[in-house]
Amino acid sequence: MASRDGAPDDFGSAYRLLSTAVTPRPIGWISSRSKAGVDNLAPYSFFNVVAVDPPVVMFAPVGSTDLKDTPRNVRETGEFVVNTVSRDLGDQMHATSATLGEGESEFDHVGIERAESVVVDSPRVAAAKAAFECELYDWIEVGGSVLILGEVVHAHVDEDVLTDGQIDIESLDTVGRLSGSQYASTAERFGIDRPS
Ligand SMILES: Cc1cc2nc3c(=O)[nH]c(=O)nc-3n(C[C@H](O)[C@H](O)[C@H](O)COP(=O)(O)O)c2cc1C
Repeated sequence: MASRDGAPDDFGSAYRLLSTAVTPRPIGWISSRSKAGVDNLAPYSFFNVVAVDPPVVMFAPVGSTDLKDTPRNVRETGEFVVNTVSRDLGDQMHATSATLGEGESEFDHVGIERAESVVVDSPRVAAAKAAFECELYDWIEVGGSVLILGEVVHAHVDEDVLTDGQIDIESLDTVGRLSGSQYASTAERFGIDRPS
């Protein structure tokens, strides 16, 4: 089989190469509250679980000096909430990636109902089937991006997605990001036996 190799930029931009090859990516729909009390909501697909003891998740906003609203809020308050995105919330999630004026909330702009959190001040998405309240664990600058690590201090899981006390993947129905405005559903699943 023929292959091409070289530096990431030989394939266009490093962003295009990596964000189309590393797919589908889970989406952390991050809610936060500014010091001034404005509620923010935005999707981040450079997102994942990092550790379970302590339970830590990460997301990575682009821009380490000219910060987006979410990282700015996290730096100011030290907290945020990760909301999961099920298929029925896909359009709303996508709409919250719009750039709004200062003082405007994506919750109000898109018409998304808030729910109160238990430990942190940041609101969460009422319709999200799972949400994880996080306290800032670490903030690591990686070139022109920031890697934000958050320790999960409280979890919300909708009873409807629980089977025998465990999250049922089919009910959670999460979506993943492909490239640009393309998403993947997790509706088609298959199993692979453990190697012996
Ligand atoms: C599905 C999806 C995933 C995204 N993932 C990221 C990401 O990982 N990092 C990033 O900097 N921007 C990402 N964006 C763009 C941000 O959501 C967008 O810049 C948004 O306006 C940031 O909002 P904020 O300033 O309120 O934080 C993503 C957009 C979409 C639609």
